[in-house]
Amino acid sequence: MDNEGNIPDIRGGNPKFQAKCASDSQVTLSQAMMPSDANPLGNIHGGHVMKLVDEAGGLAAMRHARRPVVTVAVDSMSFLSPVKVGHLLTLRSAVNWVGKTSLEVGIRVEAENPITGEITHTNSAFAVYVALDDAGRPVVVPPLILESEDEKRRWAEAEARQAIRLQRWGKK
Ligand SMILES: CC(C)(COP(=O)(O)OP(=O)(O)OC[C@H]1O[C@@H](n2cnc3c(N)ncnc32)[C@H](O)[C@@H]1OP(=O)(O)O)[C@@H](O)C(=O)NCCC(=O)NCCS
Repeated sequence: MDNEGNIPDIRGGNPKFQAKCASDSQVTLSQAMMPSDANPLGNIHGGHVMKLVDEAGGLAAMRHARRPVVTVAVDSMSFLSPVKVGHLLTLRSAVNWVGKTSLEVGIRVEAENPITGEITHTNSAFAVYVALDDAGRPVVVPPLILESEDEKRRWAEAEARQAIRLQRWGKK
């Protein structure tokens, strides 16, 4: 029960661990974009942004699980606007859904022109990570506490996406 007498909405994971909120593991990663990550026109390579997406997502998953994680799936990614050399890229990641050993993390990427202050939404992505034990096998993770209507909506959408992924890969 929380301070206001409400029963918390706790889902997924393994109850042997204390449940955690998405806010406990969310990550903000900011990085200046350098010429070494760009093409001759000064546009940052999509692959560089994808690597940072995976890093930000993996960090949120690790903070939730407090275990090493591997990426098992990344949903398709579209780039909505170019990222240029000199932009400050900020990635925000948070756990949306928790299975037994797997977690879906949502990652939002924004690029800021530090001179003008203009901020553009570059892309968003969903990635699934699996927590590993010391022998490299999947290991159970803590449950997730859903604190808001937004978090409940994200859970439902992530659960539906995960069902589609598993169906696509013949896992269910
Ligand atoms: C991740 C890995 C350990 C899972 O092994 P596995 O034998 O498939 O294990 P399981 O079938 O028990 O699946 C483990 C979890 O992953 C989920 N999972 C497996 N394949 C998935 C997929 N394609 N998409 C989403 N989730 C998937 C399962 O549903 C399960 O989740 P749950 O425990 O929450 O129910 C294994 O696939 C692996 O090592 N993959 C390579 C990871 C890697 O190197 N990543 C970097 C890529 S460059």
